[in-house]
Amino acid sequence: MTTPRPETLAKLTPVLTKRWLSPDAWRIGTYEQLDGYAALRKALKAHPDDLIQLIKDSGLRGRGGAGFPTGLKWGFIPQGDGKPHYLVVNADEGEPGTCKDLPLMTHDPHALVEGVIIASYAIRASRAYIYIRGEAVHAARRLRNAVQEAYDKGYLGQNILRSGYDLELVVHSGAGAYICGEETALLDSLEGFRGQPRLRPPFPATHGLYASPTVVNNVGTIASVPPIVLGGADWWKTMGTEKSSGPMIYSLSGRVANPGQYECSMGITLRELLELAGGMQPGHNLRFWTPGGSSTPLLAAEHLDVPLDFEGVAAAGSILGTTATQIFSDQDCPVYATYRWLEFYHHESCGKCTPCREGNYWMVRVYRRILAGQGTHEDLDTLLDTCDNILGRSFCGLGDGATSSVTSSLQYFKQDYLDYIEGRTAPKLSEKTLVGAH
Ligand SMILES: Cc1cc2nc3c(=O)[nH]c(=O)nc-3n(C[C@H](O)[C@H](O)[C@H](O)COP(=O)(O)O)c2cc1C
Ligand code: SF4
Repeated sequence: MTTPRPETLAKLTPVLTKRWLSPDAWRIGTYEQLDGYAALRKALKAHPDDLIQLIKDSGLRGRGGAGFPTGLKWGFIPQGDGKPHYLVVNADEGEPGTCKDLPLMTHDPHALVEGVIIASYAIRASRAYIYIRGEAVHAARRLRNAVQEAYDKGYLGQNILRSGYDLELVVHSGAGAYICGEETALLDSLEGFRGQPRLRPPFPATHGLYASPTVVNNVGTIASVPPIVLGGADWWKTMGTEKSSGPMIYSLSGRVANPGQYECSMGITLRELLELAGGMQPGHNLRFWTPGGSSTPLLAAEHLDVPLDFEGVAAAGSILGTTATQIFSDQDCPVYATYRWLEFYHHESCGKCTPCREGNYWMVRVYRRILAGQGTHEDLDTLLDTCDNILGRSFCGLGDGATSSVTSSLQYFKQDYLDYIEGRTAPKLSEKTLVGAH
């Protein structure tokens, strides 16, 4: 294990993670001692439009994967329309490898609750929901407890802190489906329907929850709001890069000495993150990695110095996504890893559209054939052709994301595929997995 140099350690910028190691960090007493709810007091004295402008000025971009500017999204909510407005927090965190929202809600749930109240006040919502992944029982328990503590202290409910502002906050547990992280499927699920994406337009900003104006934001996005209110937009922009401002929680997993969450200025590189995490596990050399979860195209060892911000990763041919960096070594097989991800997408496909439903079904079968030593050269063309028919032709981002590791692994690691097909690599799957594969 390597020890990080002081100059690399200085790249850690704990803002959202700063309370995580405090004793009983999840309790309201600890939170209040460490600046908690000070931003809310400040925000309630401001005009809601000024808060929206502050978030615009900060350059905050959504932490849920697409990086959409948060202030702009809030500004889309029509005002004076006489309809109820809703804030919905996306706490589904289903992207494989992603682990930033659940630890945040477990260690510091009040950071999210405070962010919800400020954001709801800014968009003039009097009801907010946090939609949390059903399996995340522990985080949901902490969150519900925090919400109750906030009600008891007058931060939620009627006439919050005697400001005249009312807000009800509901924590809703989903049933555990990846597609329910897609914002319109999430809204359907919250309304009690089967979680499937909606056709857009109309967008949630005008026709969201119960056909009313709705902002859907990720946990990390909303938890960024209190520090911006307290520290100001200029302070926030001292971290990150010009177009990707602020700190970001990068979650490292896989063949790394110290996996976990590292909050750093956006634009840090994987080389630096690996140093912070003690390097690769002994005996392992970096071979491939995902910059932002399994829906983002794989990168290779040659990309160690790519700045991990929205623009830097895009320029390298991938997507920053959820900053879930999954690290694989020279002892891992990119063909097998891609197959396992495809099994996931096949299983999680909601079935609404043909390219994703059928395409993933067939690609899983082609991979099984290759990994069982019965693949052909034509299979590689079939995979690329299938991806071509899924990408950009699917109803939602799940289908697009499923193709990422297929096309990128074929781009960087075609030889690994050929080694299975031409018999140089021993089959990884038995022929039993091939039932119905041809
Ligand atoms: C299949 C799929 C799954 C998604 N899962 C999540 C998720 O678990 N959490 C999340 O915040 N965003 C997820 N998203 C992105 C959301 O649709 C949406 O862009 C995001 O919640 C917006 O919040 P933000 O602007 O704060 O990033 C997913 C998108 C797709 C296509
Ligand atoms: S792309 Fe997949 S998950 Fe999305 S609507 Fe189509 S079938 Fe459903």
